[in-house]
Amino acid sequence: MNILLLGSGGREHALAWKMSQSKLCSQLFIAPGNAGTEACGTNVHIAVTDFDALGKFCISNNVDMLVVGPEEPLVKGIYDFFKASDALKHIAVIGPSRQGAQLEGSKAFAKAFMQRHNIPTAAYREFDTDNYEEGIAYLHAHSIPIVLKADGLAAGKGVIICQNHVEAVAEFELMIQQSKFGDASKKVVVEDFLSGIELSVFVLTDGKSYVVLPEAKDYKRIGEGDKGLNTGGMGAVSPVAFADDVFMKKVIDRVVEPTIQGLKKEKIVYTGFIFIGLIKVGDDPYVIEYNCRMGDPETEVVIPRLKNDLVALFNATATRQLDTVRLETDPRKAVTVMAVSGGYPGEYEKGNKIEGLDLLDEDDVLIFHAGTKREEEAIVTSGGRVLTVTSFAENIKRASEKSKSVLQIIEFDGMYYRPDIGYEFYES
Ligand code: AMP
Ligand code: GLY
Repeated sequence: MNILLLGSGGREHALAWKMSQSKLCSQLFIAPGNAGTEACGTNVHIAVTDFDALGKFCISNNVDMLVVGPEEPLVKGIYDFFKASDALKHIAVIGPSRQGAQLEGSKAFAKAFMQRHNIPTAAYREFDTDNYEEGIAYLHAHSIPIVLKADGLAAGKGVIICQNHVEAVAEFELMIQQSKFGDASKKVVVEDFLSGIELSVFVLTDGKSYVVLPEAKDYKRIGEGDKGLNTGGMGAVSPVAFADDVFMKKVIDRVVEPTIQGLKKEKIVYTGFIFIGLIKVGDDPYVIEYNCRMGDPETEVVIPRLKNDLVALFNATATRQLDTVRLETDPRKAVTVMAVSGGYPGEYEKGNKIEGLDLLDEDDVLIFHAGTKREEEAIVTSGGRVLTVTSFAENIKRASEKSKSVLQIIEFDGMYYRPDIGYEFYES
């Protein structure tokens, strides 16, 4: 079959790498892709939100399946766009409907959904201009820290953890009155702070049944020891030692099952990934957020650990046969370490030449491109997160060391990576 994959990050390179290994995949197109996805298929210069152009491309290239990497086209309704067109509706779409994508697109929607289905999450209230004064009073009475979340998509920046009431009121004002995150912060969710260790759980559902992919943990802060600004993700590990059978049974029973049943009961069309961001408080899982897609860089450790044919898995999703699938996982540990541009997540340069990519010949190591592009013969940086190195080993420490040794061969001006990805699990 012919497949079109949307996106241009490390996540999409990992998905493209895996799909291109499938016998079921005849032609793979990636829109817009990066310098790494070129090795897996054909990059197509169409933006992920240009639905008309994507639709036309699918028709003229006999595309049978659309796999959506990032959230934006999903939240904007690409699933519904394809299903509403007579010329496109036969194309399998791996990704939820616009309504399903609200689990990520609106924090208030997600919180209300969790409440309706008794899914454990932090207590919360939602505020906008209509109940703004009530919100200020609520903040003053709230214990510290206070978590403020812009309701809509804010490119991973919309969550602010405030350590005192003055800061909380100031941020609240900026978000609602000054549109700090544009329309995304017209509405704000205020929630209790939860203290614990985080875990990312990935579910692939056909709307009827589901499979749970290997779990992962990502490292969001820019600096060593989880210090400094939040980023899109500086690295990830899989598996995660504390996600043992007992904990994962709680996750399935208390979170995954009620989520799938809730979608079904509310007739929300969902054929795709659900990324559940969890926090372990004591011994219990609480949901911090839902995303309607895979994580980045979690995908770069989760997908390489998956032994199944990914296209077959997507086919089973599209035909609602996931109940017949058994997942097989590589038991080795995987660590990915992201190389970023100097200055990221603030200002950074683009267009710096990346050297050393052709010198690599290591077993058990995969390089996934993120912000890279080809300029004639050279590959240059084109984003904050540039590329990530995934390694396999018998333990997390060894895998992390392997990734770092590969990153010592790769060079570009201003390159930085965290040397401590997986540090809490070095002993496991
Ligand atoms: P999100 O954008 O929803 O992924 O949130 C970003 C980060 O904020 C999460 O990964 C957590 O580290 C943190 N966070 C979000 N909500 C809470 C909460 N209720 N309690 C503690 N930390 C939180
Ligand atoms: N790594 C977190 C995310 O993809 O949202």
